[in-house]
Amino acid sequence: MKIKKIKLQNFRSYKSLEVSFGEKNIIVGENTQGKTNLLEAIYLTSVGKSFRSKESDMVLWACDHFRIESDVLDGHPQKIEYIFEKNVGRNGRKTVKINGAKKPASALLGGFPCVFFTPDEIDMFFSFPSLRRRHLNILLSKINKEYSSELIKYARVLEQRNAQLKAILKGRGKEGDLELWDGKLAEHGAEIVKERLGLVSKINANLRENYKKVAHDEKELEMKYEPSVGAFSVIPSQEGNQKNPTKDEIWAAFLGKLLESRRRDMATGTTNVGPHRDDVRLYLSGRDITSFGSRGEHRSAIVALKLSEIDIIKDKTGETPVLLMDDVFSELDEKRRENLVKAFEGQQTIVTTTDLDHIDKDLREGATIYEAKNSKLTEI
Ligand SMILES: Nc1ncnc2c1ncn2[C@@H]1O[C@H](COP(=O)(O)OP(=O)(O)O)[C@@H](O)[C@H]1O
Ligand SMILES: [Mg+2]
Repeated sequence: MKIKKIKLQNFRSYKSLEVSFGEKNIIVGENTQGKTNLLEAIYLTSVGKSFRSKESDMVLWACDHFRIESDVLDGHPQKIEYIFEKNVGRNGRKTVKINGAKKPASALLGGFPCVFFTPDEIDMFFSFPSLRRRHLNILLSKINKEYSSELIKYARVLEQRNAQLKAILKGRGKEGDLELWDGKLAEHGAEIVKERLGLVSKINANLRENYKKVAHDEKELEMKYEPSVGAFSVIPSQEGNQKNPTKDEIWAAFLGKLLESRRRDMATGTTNVGPHRDDVRLYLSGRDITSFGSRGEHRSAIVALKLSEIDIIKDKTGETPVLLMDDVFSELDEKRRENLVKAFEGQQTIVTTTDLDHIDKDLREGATIYEAKNSKLTEI
């Protein structure tokens, strides 16, 4: 998979821009010159959603719409158009077209896969469970279209159950009315947890090897999904591997736990168990690195995780994703920069940096280099 060209109109700090990409691309520029904005535009036409905010924030100030056009190549050329009109309807109107034909935004997922990597993610992943769940949700949405709609359904039911709990708290609702929401919540929740467990197993398939490659360290990295309903009874399979619980097993555990925590839920006016409270953590040689890891270990773990994600996307879509790296080199020493570039070799890469000296010479060689200044790009 490759992106050949992108055109922007009124997108963030860009009034108008047209850039072509090669196999290796470097965008160099000082802070606030538009580097991340450009990666965000590429990401948007890949995933249909930003990693940082909502579309209305992305329209160039004082304008009423933005437009992005990406020319990508996956065997045959494809044109992806992404238009957002801020003042249409209550929340604005988004239009997505692929080769001129209107499509739902979800049609973008998987079509032009890309993987985005920024040091902010290291801090995010090791800060809050909500951000770790988000990490899983984003990856799952990229490889499984039904997953996003399951998440939306779950969120709706959760909202309704919480409203019912609040009504009970105020003496305006009956406990018996919770039953309907419990059943629906367990149904959608079980599907979400099943998919997440499946993803974590896939990540773990290559995570150890990827960690060793990145960190040059023999410690074993493993990801664990930690459900708020407590451990599921996991049955070892014939091959001796641990088997993930089935959807029915998850559903039963979740429903049981909902009943168990009903008193507490009614007292707090909120739902205290379920996939919206689950966690996923990384363990290095059995130790939780969220609490114990060094900065270096956190960084290597996230890079290893990204590599596993690339493996999963390749496996699922048959495409090598485009790699977007936003300012990831500045905090690395020379040896680590070299390792990072080696680890991600063999796919189209677009990196940003404030200083060309931070870019490994192997990556610089033959690269298309642009200087970003005041949201204009000049090839150098
Ligand atoms: N909707 C918008 N309209 C105009 N400018 C914007 C908009 N959103 C962000 N910006 C500007 O974009 C600049 C940041 O660009 P960014 O790509 O993050 O810079 P960097 O080169 O440091 O990555 C900031 O000056 C910010 O004010
Ligand atoms: Mg930036």
